[in-house]
Parts: sequence; C-alpha cells; structure tokens
Amino acid sequence: MVPAAGQGKRMGGQGNKLLLELAGTPILVFTLKTLELCPLIKEIIIPAARADILTIKKLVAKYSLNKVTAVVEGGAERQESVYRALQSLSTEVDSVIVHDGARPLLTLDNLNRFVEETADFEAAVMAVPLKDTVKKVDAQGRVVETPPREQLRAIQTPQIFNRNLLEKVHKLAFEQQYLATDDASLFEWQGLPVRVVEGSYENIKVTTPEDMLWAESILCRRREVPQM
Ligand code: CTP
Ligand code: MG
Repeated sequence: MVPAAGQGKRMGGQGNKLLLELAGTPILVFTLKTLELCPLIKEIIIPAARADILTIKKLVAKYSLNKVTAVVEGGAERQESVYRALQSLSTEVDSVIVHDGARPLLTLDNLNRFVEETADFEAAVMAVPLKDTVKKVDAQGRVVETPPREQLRAIQTPQIFNRNLLEKVHKLAFEQQYLATDDASLFEWQGLPVRVVEGSYENIKVTTPEDMLWAESILCRRREVPQM
C-alpha cells in the first residue's frame, strides 16, 4: 500500500509533491518501481486525492507498473487514506507493507532485506538511529527532558503488518477517532508489539524543498554506481 493522497503543504508548491520530478521522473514512480520489482509483493494499492487519481493511473500505465491493482480515493489524514485503501485489498493477502509515496529512495536491496528480516513479526518498521540530540519542549519553549539518544530511532516506512491485525486496529481507531502519524502507532495503542529493523539514512521522506536537492544528489550518485 502506497499512501499518496497528501497535499504536500510543507513542500510549499502547488499540488501533490509526489508528482514533482527527480531527474525527469515523478517521485511516486520511483517509489512504485521499487515495490514493483520486489518478488514478494503481489499487488499495490494507492490511495490518492480525487484530483490526482487520473494522473496517477496514467503514470501507472506509462511506466508499466503492472502490480498496481487499484488507485482509490484517500482521506483527509494519512491514516484515513490507509484505512480506505485497506478495503480494496484482495482476499489472498496475509501481510501488508505500507510504504509512503514520498520515500522514493528506498533501494530494492533494503526492501528485500526488510521483508526477509520481518517474516516472523506481526508488526515491524524500518528505522535509523537519530543523529541529533532530541529534547522534549513545552509550549513556552522550555526544555522538559532529553531522552537518551541511544534509545531513540527515527521511524521510516516501509512498515509491515499482519493483514488481519492491521485491519482490526484501523477499524478500532476509526471507531474511537484515535489518530496517529503512522500505522505502527495503532498497534502500540492496542498494546501489540512492534519490532524495529535497521533502515538507511538515504531512505528520506521528501517533505521540504531541501529534500529535493538531497534526493537528486543521491540519485545522481547511484547512477554513477548503479545499485538496482
Ligand atoms: N498521505 C496520504 N493521505 C493524506 C496525507 C498524506 O496518503 N491525507 C501520504 C502522502 O501522500 C505521503 C505520506 O502519506 O506519501 C506521508 O505524508 P507527508 O510526507 O506528510 O505528505 P503530505 O501530507 O503530502 O505533506 P504535508 O504534510 O507537508 O502536507
Ligand atoms: Mg502530511
């Protein structure tokens, strides 16, 4: 599942940031291509804003993304987009990988390794150690506490889940109007264990304009030293 229904507000431009191009190809296409090439992935579902559905369907056709089975209307929040897309999953699927459309730099090697390493877990996320010291601050800008950095991780996608449990926690969250920024948080909310697997610092989420420059330079280096 590839959430793609955001508005890209922090990118500051007009329209969905996932349609911006990196080296001539839309961000979303990079993301989808990596999933398309992963042998363990059977089908790809994309929740998108209504205004983008046709454009995304055209990209799917143009780039022969044959595993994409549905582009469905997303919701106002990421969680709602995922919840809606879950309704379109085929009956045969046991596990669901959720991967942000906005993370085009995940490599196929990292994705394959992630799927192998998480085979025994009902919920797992990709993450990297934090580089910065993180402080919790209050509304007045006063430091409340500094959690030990070695215990902290920056959480990325892909995130992988047992399909039945993912559907269950999403339904509960919908009913109880519990909102979180990632799917793993819904498992945590229900007291279910979530495992963390080492990711890559290159697997950035393209969020603000600087990230476009960073993404372009990573891609440029990969072209010189091909990885996929
Ligand atoms: N997303 C979604 N539905 C939403 C909001 C976000 O499917 N209602 C998707 C985005 O398209 C993106 C991913 O969730 O692939 C991560 O979200 P984020 O990086 O926050 O993207 P946007 O919400 O588009 O950006 P912003 O928050 O700056 O508006
Ligand atoms: Mg957002």
